Amino acid sequence: AAGRLWGGRFAGGPAEAMAELSRSTAFDWRLAPHDLDGSVAHANALLRVGLLTAEEHTAMVEELQRMRADVLAGTLGPDPDDEDVHGALERILIERVGPDLGGRLRAGRSRNDQIATLVRRYLRTELAAVLTAVLEVVDALADQAERHLGAVMPGRTHLQHAQPVLLSHHLLAHAWPLLRDGARVVDLDRRLGLSPYGSSALAGSSLGLDPEAIAADLGFEGSVANSIDGTSARDLVAEAAFVLAQVGVDLSRLSEDVILWCTSEFGFATLDDAWSTGSSVMPQKKNPDVAELARGKAGRLIGNLTGLLATLKGLPLAYNRDLQEDKEPVFDSLDQLRVLVPAVAGMVGTLTFHPERMAALAPQGFSLATDVADWLVRRRVPFAEAHEIAGACVRYCEQRGLELQQLTPDDLAAVSEHLRPELLAELGVEASVAARDQRGGTAPSRVREQLQEVRAETERL
Ligand code: ARG
Repeated sequence: AAGRLWGGRFAGGPAEAMAELSRSTAFDWRLAPHDLDGSVAHANALLRVGLLTAEEHTAMVEELQRMRADVLAGTLGPDPDDEDVHGALERILIERVGPDLGGRLRAGRSRNDQIATLVRRYLRTELAAVLTAVLEVVDALADQAERHLGAVMPGRTHLQHAQPVLLSHHLLAHAWPLLRDGARVVDLDRRLGLSPYGSSALAGSSLGLDPEAIAADLGFEGSVANSIDGTSARDLVAEAAFVLAQVGVDLSRLSEDVILWCTSEFGFATLDDAWSTGSSVMPQKKNPDVAELARGKAGRLIGNLTGLLATLKGLPLAYNRDLQEDKEPVFDSLDQLRVLVPAVAGMVGTLTFHPERMAALAPQGFSLATDVADWLVRRRVPFAEAHEIAGACVRYCEQRGLELQQLTPDDLAAVSEHLRPELLAELGVEASVAARDQRGGTAPSRVREQLQEVRAETERL
């Protein structure tokens, strides 16, 4: 029957519901160009062992190339009763070149090694595109960091004021996880670079086809060492789903900051009109929908990963049809990030920051208390005692409605004999930030250096 690659041992065809369940063209057709590339490489292998003559090979490869062009032009698609992308393309080939030639292509290969190869090849291309898009978010963060070098903000832990930091330092803290995701893509690409083609159903082929030559034809760095593993492993697909989920999580955390910053309570930033949405009923609204969709989609990407891992956990070797369920989750993750990542880059790149507001809040909430303790430590007070004294300053201020930098020499003396008046001149946001000048710290000189590191790592990836 049309588009089904089996039947000889069956007296009748599948029930309609069986065929319906079995059909995967709705999601695997996107692999058609890779399937046709694989078929060309396989035809080359058949030629080399004499299973296709030179004329047969030429005719077949020409038709496969034509089909590839038709697929890319959108003029060639599966029929409703094709089982999967492999069956559909073989049916079309046979229709176009006849069964005597078209029927020779399948020798020595199986859909099991085909699909495993196609997915690896597809993931390599798609992950490279994700990497490019993610680096645009990194660029947007780095550009904003460069634009605002010197601007201070309240650094937070537990969402409470902790210590003043540079806005640029905070922005670059969102760039590094994305750069690590980029490095993960690069690393995963090495593992994806081995082709399972030639593994056939599970044991390899008896026809003398050379998997290494097919791998080279398809742009892989080599072929798999074990045909059973090659056809049944999906850890690489799960790893791709993980990297994509991690990108989603990293964008979600960045987005949560943006959402907070754009509230009137924070007032740290304003979204550009092009990257926000309005309300159907409240005319004043300007909503951070890009950031909220990032946060929402992260949950979906995590679901795709966990669903796939659950599918894999109980499967015996080698191929099982459950493995067909690997594709939709990882395809969905790619599809979601394809629309999400550029929007996040746009949102970040066009944010307007309000440095005066951030500077006004930076010293509030006793964020200079650590600097009081450190000042005492530099004067040989043991840190544990210095911590107590600085804490007593905070309590003193809290009772009187003051901030630390508003204390007078008399206030200081009332709290501890160690607190000399010179402290007051040294206590401030600028000094606090400038003092943290070791590698990785928030001092302007170090953040400028860090910005160069971010640029260099972006370049390297
Ligand atoms: N569509 C299958 C998959 O995605 C490949 C076909 C293998 N089918 C089979 N009956 N062995 O995994």
